[in-house]
Amino acid sequence: MHSRTLKIDVGSKKLIPLLSKATFKGCHGGRGGTKSYFFADMHIARALSQPGYRALCLREVQRSIKESSKRLLEQRIQHHGLGSSFDVMDAEIRTPGGGQLVFHGLQNHTAESVKSFEGFDVADIEEGQTIKQRSLDLLIPTIIRKPGAEIWARWNPRHDTDPIDKLFRGPKAPPGSVCVEVGWQDNPWLSNEMRRQIEADYENDPEKAMHIWGGGYEIITEGSYYAKQIAQADRDGRIGHFPYDPDLPVITGWDIGVDDYTAVWFMQENGREVRAIDYYECSGEGAQHVADVILSKPYKYKAHYLPHDVRNREWGSGAKKREDTLRDLGITPVRVGARLGPVERINATRALLPIVSFDREKAWLGIKRLRNYCRKFNESTQSYLGPLHDDSSHGSDAFGEFALNCSIRPTLANTTKSDEFKDYTPEHQSESSTSWL
Ligand SMILES: Nc1ncnc2c1ncn2[C@@H]1O[C@H](COP(=O)(O)OP(=O)(O)OP(=O)(O)O)[C@@H](O)[C@H]1O
Ligand SMILES: [Mg+2]
Repeated sequence: MHSRTLKIDVGSKKLIPLLSKATFKGCHGGRGGTKSYFFADMHIARALSQPGYRALCLREVQRSIKESSKRLLEQRIQHHGLGSSFDVMDAEIRTPGGGQLVFHGLQNHTAESVKSFEGFDVADIEEGQTIKQRSLDLLIPTIIRKPGAEIWARWNPRHDTDPIDKLFRGPKAPPGSVCVEVGWQDNPWLSNEMRRQIEADYENDPEKAMHIWGGGYEIITEGSYYAKQIAQADRDGRIGHFPYDPDLPVITGWDIGVDDYTAVWFMQENGREVRAIDYYECSGEGAQHVADVILSKPYKYKAHYLPHDVRNREWGSGAKKREDTLRDLGITPVRVGARLGPVERINATRALLPIVSFDREKAWLGIKRLRNYCRKFNESTQSYLGPLHDDSSHGSDAFGEFALNCSIRPTLANTTKSDEFKDYTPEHQSESSTSWL
């Protein structure tokens, strides 16, 4: 059997990296970005060039073969005039040289049954945003034991915590993995109907359109304090490349958490605007470690704003105030903020956010903290209470500490609902001492 080649017409150059060899190939983006067509054509091209090619077309849930990509593959085979080279069966497609394309829902598989996936050349995950961690954990070791095998995935991003997003876009992406983004803007075949729909959606509900068409994460606005303002910053181009400016000093805003949690924002002001150039957080680390991290940065510090409770808390067995311990470790000059609560921090943050630009690379975790900072929901009364104390509250409190002390004081434009804090009880404002050292 001779191998043949198929010329794939890719709509955008952005897809070209996916044509080279890589164990993990990911492609994400909003709707209509040619992802499904491109991967269908990749299977067909591989099947022609590699007799006996075997691929798994997978999704988390597949109640019937109709939900799979089988129909699109059939259409593309016909489109390329290759009907005589492939054998379309009820549940699979036979490829030249005795290979096959098969279609499965991973949800129905067990550690035992997934062993039947051994020996496939490609596992192609569709609708990757819905894939469960358990499914990836079963699949990946089974596939990659065959030398040269590849795992492909494509998805419409939902949350950065979705397992597929963490796998490809998280801080620990597999070495040598390739991941590209494509959107409707990259689709030369986009119909006029689709284009009109996209324009109307951006007009009517830009936040939603940014998620559905723009391929951005779903914004959880419900109960969130800053999600809309962060989305606006993104739309304005204020989340991007905003690195340290060596001509300006750096001011930090801190939160030193009750549960050994520390969050620090690194900010620069130029009189009119504010740049959030970096963000750091840790939990369970001592003061020495935190000071080392802060001082290892190449920044010239003008002031470190600490929350007022550093005055009260002692660390470890010593009698020193936290602010003194930090000073002794070289964190200077220290400024201790006024005794204000979350309401003031939130209002100050909301007032400041319209003039803040964020460095996407260094401050991404902080941006996420601000976006997710939200109110507690009381199930029994179906109403919102004060701020939820969770992973997002420390970074948000640290930002608030900076906002309260920033030398630029914008006025707050009706962003606060009057009854927003009415049921708020400051439970995590207690001054109870927990060791940080
Ligand atoms: N290679 C191609 N040749 C012709 N038309 C194409 C091609 N690729 C995409 N299209 C057109 O663009 C439309 C969107 O492409 P596709 O379905 O592949 O996008 P997608 O990124 O998978 O979108 P979704 O995220 O909604 O699944 C298709 O319905 C088809 O009309
Ligand atoms: Mg698709």
